[in-house]
Amino acid sequence: MNLKTIQNEDFTNKRVIVRVDYNVPLKNNEVKDNTRIKRSLDTIKLLNQKGAKIILMSHLGRPKGIDESLRLNPVKEELQKLLNESNINLTVIKFDDCIGEDIKNRINNSNEKEIFLLENLRFHKEEKENDDNFAKQLSELADCYVSDAFGTVHRAHASTQGISKYIPSFAGLLVEAEVKGLSPLVEEPNRPFVAIIGCAKIKDKLNAVKFLLQKADKVIFGGAIVFSFFKANGLEIGKSICEEDLTEIKQLIADYGNKIVLPTDIVVADNIESPTKIQTVNFEQMPSDLIGVDVGEQSIILFKETIKEAKTICWNGPLGIFEKEEFAKGTNEFAKYLATKKDAYTVIGGGDTVSAVKPQGVENFTHVSTGGGAFLEFLEGKVLPGIEILLK
Ligand code: 3PG
Repeated sequence: MNLKTIQNEDFTNKRVIVRVDYNVPLKNNEVKDNTRIKRSLDTIKLLNQKGAKIILMSHLGRPKGIDESLRLNPVKEELQKLLNESNINLTVIKFDDCIGEDIKNRINNSNEKEIFLLENLRFHKEEKENDDNFAKQLSELADCYVSDAFGTVHRAHASTQGISKYIPSFAGLLVEAEVKGLSPLVEEPNRPFVAIIGCAKIKDKLNAVKFLLQKADKVIFGGAIVFSFFKANGLEIGKSICEEDLTEIKQLIADYGNKIVLPTDIVVADNIESPTKIQTVNFEQMPSDLIGVDVGEQSIILFKETIKEAKTICWNGPLGIFEKEEFAKGTNEFAKYLATKKDAYTVIGGGDTVSAVKPQGVENFTHVSTGGGAFLEFLEGKVLPGIEILLK
């Protein structure tokens, strides 16, 4: 994919509005995971060096109208802290709205040491509606538009697509790196290509799963989805989560059975919240009164064996109920092994999977994506609306 990037452009004295993805988890009004903010710093730094006046915009959560708990104030604090730590000498000025004459005038009267942060775009329903007038109002704050929100490129919203009709548009460094990092998976991956997918229900990832089953040589499944596969094969699954309708699963088995790799042993428990009984059983002998919560040690051996010779590996979704320490072993063991695989192109995507590999050091993987839904839709092999506007 050939993108118009910011790298060779001159932005001297230009007002540049940058769509970032600061949709970050908050706890007690503080940013709990600042990865997405950190990943926007390279673009901010480069635009600043190129003499741009930077205006940042993002959504946060899924508010219906103004929601005081979803203002970007905690994001502003975290961004300021990270700018200071990175010696990027800019002061963040945050507005309480994202459009309007006052904001425009303030930006036009700024000094070179200021960077602006607009309020949560989704406080205006016109953002998600991709309303033309709203997109135009956003565009009027700037001379150029930069998309650096890879996490939202699958959305055709005013700030991710509509705005590009009005001002010249460019890909920021993060979007550029994501497209470069993920493209080998959908183009010509080095083989063997193995994908690992963890999920509870197939509908969340069906299109990506289908694409990967076509493209990859093997697809390993983890997470509760494996119980739907077991049930479709006529096995007992106890009280484990399962699809109500197994039609899609049966079709996947019929079409791609030779590529599907399932766990061979399962960790089962009597209760997810406060288990008193945890044991590992063969996949064909799941007790009727217990719940499947993780993959067992034999499965991890099988999964390691499956990726051993792989030259391209893509992982999305934990293998068990990873949020609970007792049931995170499968995911953690697999993450540890994958981090040692230096002879393969390794791509990690999805918030939980990224959290799972973080203790191993993200630098030990070829590409760690900031996208959740965007990552999965990219893996469907289609050109996403927020990318299409950046093509040369
Ligand atoms: C994400 O967190 O995946 C992105 O920020 C997109 O958010 P959305 O699913 O609410 O559009």
